[in-house]
Amino acid sequence: MNTPPPTSRNILQIGRLLPSLEEALRQCYTVCFLDDEPDPTAFLSDQGGRFVGVATSSLFGISAEEIDALPELKVISCFGVGLDKIAVAAAHARGIAIGYTPDILNDCVADTAFALLLDVARATPEADRYVRAGLWAERGANSFHLGRKVSGARLGIVGLGRIGRTVARRAIGFEMDIRYHARHPVADAAWPHEPSLIELARWADFLVVITAGGPGTRHLINADVLEALGPQGFLINVARGSVVDEQALVHALAEKRIAGAGLDVFENEPQIPNALLRDNVVLLPHIASATEETRQAMAQRVVDNLECFFAEGRMISTVL
Ligand code: NAP
Ligand code: 8YV
Repeated sequence: MNTPPPTSRNILQIGRLLPSLEEALRQCYTVCFLDDEPDPTAFLSDQGGRFVGVATSSLFGISAEEIDALPELKVISCFGVGLDKIAVAAAHARGIAIGYTPDILNDCVADTAFALLLDVARATPEADRYVRAGLWAERGANSFHLGRKVSGARLGIVGLGRIGRTVARRAIGFEMDIRYHARHPVADAAWPHEPSLIELARWADFLVVITAGGPGTRHLINADVLEALGPQGFLINVARGSVVDEQALVHALAEKRIAGAGLDVFENEPQIPNALLRDNVVLLPHIASATEETRQAMAQRVVDNLECFFAEGRMISTVL
């Protein structure tokens, strides 16, 4: 990783980061890891005035209380694009700049959405378990249940932002019929905007959720949307667990009111309801952006955003 020359600036690190990123930060700055402190709240009220920058991630974020306890804070650099755990309004009210890592992860998150979509439609994880358990040899050819065809199917995308558009471009290669729902139609989108999420769900064979998280989208995918998706429809969520009403999803799966689900994110990570451990559900541990290439590029952007801010007072990727 390229690192700027060392300075004596004090940076507060919140939550564990990629090891190469932690190392790069320590080469450039004086870094204090908040989680090492036995009483983080007491530490911040005593020492908070030392820190001009924060390095955090979408996973850990930074709260309004933590921002309040950092009177000299000028910049937050976040590893990730989701802002649901960052107190953006509190930071902006103080003129604190927030850097993040948009676009860098579009490809890998869209790839993961497609991996989940293919896996759940064709039951590949279940088929893999079947072979490993010796059931193919035991039961013979054509004994595994049929899957569902992906090529040419109807894809509904909930949230046509940076990643949603990348998902749509993947779907072109599968000759899928594509529509999307977002609060606003996207001016240059080649696909029809569906103003009603329920109607999109009713139409779709596969519903991929890739909106922002936070209070504005909490339980957007509720029992009514799942009902509309129907017994032949599959739900894929790579956005945030909070966007899907997990209990409604559990009931819809148990009652076979939807065909299956592919999930990278959950309401209470890393806890997953036992009721989701079903053959027609594919579960991932929030790894949509987790490739060597993408995570290293995200780490570099965290460092570059900080360096750019301290050198020029601006960042490469700033939350507006
Ligand atoms: P983005 O470009 O800001 O797109 C967000 C999309 O969500 C926009 O199309 C927005 O459209 C839509 N949206 C927001 N509120 C909505 C609502 N109430 N109803 C319907 N649509 C709504 O963000 P992005 O870079 O594509 O990332 C999207 C999200 O993916 C992130 O915020 C993050 O939570 C998640 N993510 C997850 C992973 C992972 O590891 N699983 C990795 C990266 C990102 P309108 O404003 O027009 O509604
Ligand atoms: C992060 C993510 O890597 O960017 C996001 O919003 O969810 C992932 O890409 C993960 O949250 C670790 O911070």
